[in-house]
Amino acid sequence: MPNLLFAAVHYLLLAGGGEEPLARFYADVTPRVSDPESAYPLFREFCLRHSDAIRGLVNNRLVQTNEVSRCSALLPAFAIALRRQGKRSIGLVEIGASAGLNLLWDRYHYDYGAGLTFGPSDSSVRLHCRLKGRNIPRLPDTMPAVSARVGIDLNPIDVFDDDSILWLKALIWPEHESRRRTFAAAVALARRRRLDVVRGDACDGLAGILRTIPGDAFPCVFHTMVMNQLSPDSQQRLDDVLTSEAKHRDLAVASIVWTPKEQTPRVLLTQFHNGGPDRAVLARCSPHGEWLEWLSSA
Ligand SMILES: C[S@@+](CC[C@H](N)C(=O)[O-])C[C@H]1O[C@@H](n2cnc3c(N)ncnc32)[C@H](O)[C@@H]1O
Repeated sequence: MPNLLFAAVHYLLLAGGGEEPLARFYADVTPRVSDPESAYPLFREFCLRHSDAIRGLVNNRLVQTNEVSRCSALLPAFAIALRRQGKRSIGLVEIGASAGLNLLWDRYHYDYGAGLTFGPSDSSVRLHCRLKGRNIPRLPDTMPAVSARVGIDLNPIDVFDDDSILWLKALIWPEHESRRRTFAAAVALARRRRLDVVRGDACDGLAGILRTIPGDAFPCVFHTMVMNQLSPDSQQRLDDVLTSEAKHRDLAVASIVWTPKEQTPRVLLTQFHNGGPDRAVLARCSPHGEWLEWLSSA
């Protein structure tokens, strides 16, 4: 993945390469950024000189960008599922959770413009999402009580591990200052507690996690920008697990999925009610959640 190479170079610059000639093209390493048009020769020279370190990173790290602004696209999807479930508490289960920052979506403040806001007004994590098109999504009536929150990831990122957090920072493009600020605020908030992100392949671990969700809670499963990292077989296996679990209890799956056929990611909601799946495409959104175009009448 090209992302891996760019992140590896960015990581080396963030981790002490501030004096490198290439650093002057990176807005989060230097105060005055040079014209990117002239970056390539220095980029190439840097890659050749640090090829061992870059090979090590590219071979051992994953694209795990943890982007909390994607919660702005998920929130109206959760709202639909919650309206159906009434006032039950919810059990959050995130597939491909990375550091698990999106498991804290109920702690963030949301602003969609034109006075449409939601979430704790004093939250240190403030998400802004521009609405496109004519439809206004309906937000939850109240913040649901969360009685469980568990994630699963091939490689869970420990928010207390500075080197892992540096890797996630390196995955944010250097000129994306606002994403970087939001990420830092979300990490600081997550560090107030220990998040439960289990190591494993979701295809193998999801059923076990779902069974840990208390019986009186409504399981809200979600995943964002994960399916593109799974083979079609693995995607089918996950769907089979969810369908099988839904034979025993109602559950909902909200997701942001970007397939190669689509120009933009889509927000999907599958509600399993009395076993049967009810699948809907709710919206389109930007890859990092900066805008949302609501398509659904729900
Ligand atoms: C692009 S990141 C997205 C992280 C997070 N969902 C977000 O949107 O901020 C994809 C994550 O999915 C994880 N992942 C990929 N395949 C997985 C699998 N089979 N089981 C569990 N996690 C997986 C990766 O390790 C990575 O952390």
